[in-house]
Amino acid sequence: MSTGAPQPRGLLYRWASVLPLTERTPRITLGEGDTPLVRSAAIEKLCGLDELWFKLESCNPTGSFKDRGMVVAVARAIEGGARALMCASTGNTSASAAAYAAKCGLECFVLVPGGKVAAGKMAQAVAYGSHIIEVEGNFDDALNAARALTAKHPVALVNSVNPDRIQGQKTAAYEICESLGDAPDILAIPVGNAGNITAYWKGFLECAETARASLHPKMFGFQAAGAAPLVAGQPVAEPQTIATAIRIGKPASWAGATGARDESGGRIDAVTDDEILEAYRLLAGKEGLFVEPASAASVAGLLKVGRAGGIRGGRAVAILTGNGLKDPDTATSQYTPKITKAVASVESVERALGW
Ligand code: F0G
Repeated sequence: MSTGAPQPRGLLYRWASVLPLTERTPRITLGEGDTPLVRSAAIEKLCGLDELWFKLESCNPTGSFKDRGMVVAVARAIEGGARALMCASTGNTSASAAAYAAKCGLECFVLVPGGKVAAGKMAQAVAYGSHIIEVEGNFDDALNAARALTAKHPVALVNSVNPDRIQGQKTAAYEICESLGDAPDILAIPVGNAGNITAYWKGFLECAETARASLHPKMFGFQAAGAAPLVAGQPVAEPQTIATAIRIGKPASWAGATGARDESGGRIDAVTDDEILEAYRLLAGKEGLFVEPASAASVAGLLKVGRAGGIRGGRAVAILTGNGLKDPDTATSQYTPKITKAVASVESVERALGW
């Protein structure tokens, strides 16, 4: 019988060898990383793929992929002597920053676009005890303010313009190569501020260099049609989409995203809100995966490209970036629930069911 303490888990233990850590970097964790990779039941056929796998980044501790980058950024900030964090966010970065700040006893300041953050994400920022500043304007305006404020005050900026965020987020590519035994042919991912697509591409390149993979995937990035600056080739002043997580008009990692697209022979396309919502309903109804709208953009994109004849078999991984519970308002607006009332007796329930 083992009497020892459980093995510590988390990114800073699991992927220490590929992260910029020193002996003095505190090995903090909320149990992030090691997320499931599950095979599609139905959607892969609709896309014309031989195999489609979903990487459930919604299974991270705060319900989104942001925890991977945040754990590295916060650990390095603490190592550098920081006592406070700041970020601009459409809701997931702020939830993650606030959670690690709570765990590590740091102050956390989050700048969010007023009225445009999903309810669950606001609840997280409140529960974890962050200082919330709702700014007039969109995410891009909030990020400009956060950059200027952290240049002026002794507060660590933990947006993905912080390279430690990219380092942490690249570990998902390592996990995919490990689980599949190689890189997939296609990696489908939603794109907002473009840190994540930049991070995955870095991870896949490193996996190929270190013989963890024999190929690298084509990177398929998808933006919401009302917020698709990378598709338009120029910033969008007033981004609009139901997928509020990716309601971004001027991605900070612009060059990282276009580099990933061009170097991998991939594409960055736009999907409409209707296409996003179709994928959102299919994921829940046919795959049992309840994700937030931004996450459904990766699957909406694969469906769109596949139906247009742009996919000929092969193996794809779609990144499901955030949990559906974060955005209950979109969920309730998508469905008319069929709920029948009954008293808790066999006869009454039978009658309600028409048995
Ligand atoms: N999916 C979700 C659920 C997100 O929250 C984000 C970004 C993305 C995709 C896009 O990733 O920005 O690296 O291209 N959310 C940021 C935030 C902007 O503040 O939470 P990206």
